[in-house]
Amino acid sequence: MMVEEVENILFTTTALYEANYHSDALITVNQGGTSSGKTYSIDQALFTKLAEREKKVCTVVGQDIPNLRVGALRDALEIYENSTELKRAIKSYNKSALTFTFNNGSVMEFKSYDSPQDAKSGKRDYLFINEANGIPYPIFKELYLRTYTQTYIDYNPNAEFWVHEHLIGQPHVKLLISDHRNNPFLPQHTRDSIEALKDEDEELWRVYARGLTGKIEGLVFRKWSVCDKIPENAKLIAVGLDFGFTNDPTAAIEVYQQNGELWLDEIVYKSGLTNPDIGQLLDKSKPIIADSAEPKSIEEIKRLGFRIEGAMKGPDSVKNGIDILKRYHLNVTRRSVNLRKELNNYKWKVDKLSGKAINVPVDVYNHGLDALRYVALNKLKQPYEIKATSKEALGFY
Ligand SMILES: Nc1ncnc2c1ncn2[C@@H]1O[C@H](COP(=O)(O)OP(=O)(O)OP(=O)(O)O)[C@@H](O)[C@H]1O
Ligand SMILES: [Mg+2]
Repeated sequence: MMVEEVENILFTTTALYEANYHSDALITVNQGGTSSGKTYSIDQALFTKLAEREKKVCTVVGQDIPNLRVGALRDALEIYENSTELKRAIKSYNKSALTFTFNNGSVMEFKSYDSPQDAKSGKRDYLFINEANGIPYPIFKELYLRTYTQTYIDYNPNAEFWVHEHLIGQPHVKLLISDHRNNPFLPQHTRDSIEALKDEDEELWRVYARGLTGKIEGLVFRKWSVCDKIPENAKLIAVGLDFGFTNDPTAAIEVYQQNGELWLDEIVYKSGLTNPDIGQLLDKSKPIIADSAEPKSIEEIKRLGFRIEGAMKGPDSVKNGIDILKRYHLNVTRRSVNLRKELNNYKWKVDKLSGKAINVPVDVYNHGLDALRYVALNKLKQPYEIKATSKEALGFY
């Protein structure tokens, strides 16, 4: 059969790919835990459909371009790089327009929309809404109305949202639920760290390890918003640095202050970095506050010519650092996608017996936030205590 030939030639696939590719529903919803292969499979299914049909358009939508670059676009580029057959079917990839153009005239474009009005421009045959819980329902509706053939949706279900309210259960909607056990391509250490969520928090484990709809409550940080960039006149406080290596990323966050608010920009968030690698990524003119648990790394980075000091950690420094940060409104640059994800998931632990939140945060989704906390401990505590009686400082409570 022709269809089978094309799909087998293009790439190595999983059962989730088969389920998506063969879905004949108008809307195929992929709810799932992290790293289950949702985005990869949907990208592959859409690449195959475009390769098989002439002059079709597929729009892949994310909440913004930085999120697409760590989500559906990154997976699409990896699939493209690894498939000689797909490369043969695709005429070009335009880096600035974020568009794959096939020899048969079909197109896969990656876009984000600021408003429902904006989403009224253009029509398409296929639509993929990547991480749909970041997209407002009115934007989805405008896009869906202008989609002729099929729509795919994926997300991690950390709370119910419009997909649950308006789509799941409808006759034209197919629901596929997956988790990391459905992805044979995942290294064991990644699987282990996903399963280890169970020791930290049952609810996070249900959502990210099993793909079950959760209700993530008791978030540590609520007062934060996304900004386009750091304001011109904001004052740099310091760069926070948290070390990681195999499983955990190394995170560096630049922390600025302006108008009594903090402005945060994610500079580094990557695993596998050595100290010389970190040195390449940071700016020697900016002071760094790093995790004092790694004095050797701090010394190595100092010898590379950086101004770097360890964070003043004491008993309760996690809670203290959080308390300091909570006095501020946090503005996070749009490109800080990992920090934004951490802020959406960093929560207080729940006592297993009483089911109530306790005064200790979970020890996951905290690499960028730890980096931020180090800056708070060394640089933000003192000024606040001096100002504690001023109206301005009290206003932050
Ligand atoms: N068919 C495949 N062939 C090779 N590698 C794959 C395949 N499917 C998935 N992977 C690998 O597994 C990783 C995780 O898959 P993917 O990004 O699709 O997960 P996801 O379910 O979208 O996760 P999240 O919910 O965190 O976005 C991919 O980055 C890729 O490296
Ligand atoms: Mg994904």
